[in-house]
Amino acid sequence: MTDISILELKNITQAIREKFGYDFSNYASSSYKRRLLRILDMHKINVETLIEKVNNNNFTKEDFLHEITVNVTEMFRDPSFWKSTRSLLTTMAASRDKIKIWHAGCSSGEEVFSMLIVLKELGLLHRTEIVASDIDKSILVKAKEAKIPVKSMEIHKHNYERYCGSTDIEKYFTKQGDLYAFDKTLLEKISFREVDLVKAIPFSKFDFVLCRNVLIYFNNNLQNDVLKLISDCLFDGGMLAIGAKESISWCEVANKFVPLNVEERIFKKNRS
Ligand SMILES: C[S@@+](CC[C@H](N)C(=O)[O-])C[C@H]1O[C@@H](n2cnc3c(N)ncnc32)[C@H](O)[C@@H]1O
Repeated sequence: MTDISILELKNITQAIREKFGYDFSNYASSSYKRRLLRILDMHKINVETLIEKVNNNNFTKEDFLHEITVNVTEMFRDPSFWKSTRSLLTTMAASRDKIKIWHAGCSSGEEVFSMLIVLKELGLLHRTEIVASDIDKSILVKAKEAKIPVKSMEIHKHNYERYCGSTDIEKYFTKQGDLYAFDKTLLEKISFREVDLVKAIPFSKFDFVLCRNVLIYFNNNLQNDVLKLISDCLFDGGMLAIGAKESISWCEVANKFVPLNVEERIFKKNRS
């Protein structure tokens, strides 16, 4: 199959919502359709059969979700973003005893591991609490295991060098066969949670929310709603980071934020 009609898209989205409780109706249709087509192609079926399979429990909710979401990530992705984050966290730490951070859409954890290294190297880890969440339960299991394939270490290492970290990134890992296990003592500060950003967020307030390369999969309505929820979860004066291809300038809460670093898409919530 090379395309999915508007009606087919509506029908499969409705079946997923009714069966699994996930609402993809406000996902950006191009990437959502691409992921659905990938499922159809993998199983050599059409949309009608996919709907039957969903309704007849031939897909688990978790398997389906894992195929629909895009989990691509890297440690120290966009190294200049992490340089700016390092400097902004240093400033923030000067005016707070404790720093509460939320990674919304953390995927397999590489973004969180990067944050832990930044905080450790700044000597701020003991003053930090981190929540890392994702809609995808199976990717959270991977994030909690905190093991990285040896073959992907090269890119993480390259990013960390461009970030100008203070040591060798491998110092934070122990090699176990073809995996690198992340230093467990650094993970003590993290609470991993399953959170669907389409639904209400059951959190208190944070000093820094990172929602990077997640909004890009949503249409404008959903981006707007999610940014409103995130804004409500930020303390006044707190920071928000979004992905390099994402923007908040057009959304309803735009006037609540001022840019701290336009290039790196880091904003500060105004004091009301
Ligand atoms: C491309 S990854 C981004 C990972 C990391 N933030 C980064 O920038 O490297 C996007 C993540 O968003 C998650 N995601 C997609 N829809 C979501 C939703 N409705 N609620 C929470 N997370 C969602 C996916 O499961 C995936 O792990």
